Amino acid sequence: MPRTPEEIRALEDRVNQIESWYHRIDLGDGVETPGHFRMADYLDYYHFPADMSGMRVLDVGASTGYFAYEFERRGAAEIVGIELPSWEAHDWTPRKRRELDHKDADKRAKDNRDVMIDGFMVVGEALGSTRVKREFRPIYEINSQDLGTFDIVFSGAMLMHVRDPILGIQRMRDCCKPDGRLIVSISAAIDTDEPVAKFVGEWNECNWWQMSPKCLDTVLECCDFDRIEHRERYTLEDVTGQFKDPTYVCHALPRQD
Ligand SMILES: C[S@@+](CC[C@H](N)C(=O)[O-])C[C@H]1O[C@@H](n2cnc3c(N)ncnc32)[C@H](O)[C@@H]1O
Repeated sequence: MPRTPEEIRALEDRVNQIESWYHRIDLGDGVETPGHFRMADYLDYYHFPADMSGMRVLDVGASTGYFAYEFERRGAAEIVGIELPSWEAHDWTPRKRRELDHKDADKRAKDNRDVMIDGFMVVGEALGSTRVKREFRPIYEINSQDLGTFDIVFSGAMLMHVRDPILGIQRMRDCCKPDGRLIVSISAAIDTDEPVAKFVGEWNECNWWQMSPKCLDTVLECCDFDRIEHRERYTLEDVTGQFKDPTYVCHALPRQD
């Protein structure tokens, strides 16, 4: 049912109360979240199944939720979005952590709510979501015992934020069904066919490693994925076109014993 003009205004107000949005998401009736990245423009590179009916999907590092709600739109039966419990919970460099410790407590609480909690929730309410839920925990703490296993585990543009991406991949491997798959995208500015990782700890202070595509493939193989499919490269741009990030996407299939 289309929204009334009052409902549209109320939704716009709710969206505008949130200072920081990651994703630009179409909420219908001309309302859009004012995020930096319109991921709808890049969907083809991810090779998600058009029909996800019946699937359980884990979205690790879900942010403001574009992908989780896209999986629901494609019919997934259950989507679990994983997000850090707070802004402070990022793997910050010690220097950045010292800076954060000095930040005003109210501002810290607002950032936590806006960036980590409310955006995802507002999008879900606006889209009438019923099958998406969220778990607040770092990638290091996801496991099949608590969460079960998934047909698709997705990690978009987040492995560079974790100090130990190999442990992160192992945790995600544990959450894949034997016939499931991990779909992963990384920032991949390193242009070489060698399996190279570069330390980038100074960039944003919560980016640690940039891997070449060959490096990610090799790590995936070492973490018990024996087939890599749908290798794609594209340049992610923010909505202003000023930020450009070479990106690598692939699907990894668990080793069949
Ligand atoms: C660059 S955003 C990517 C958002 C989305 N996946 C996409 O591809 O558009 C990275 C997200 O990963 C989350 N993140 C960072 N470190 C994490 C960790 N250790 N465990 C879980 N999530 C993490 C961040 O809070 C953020 O929401």
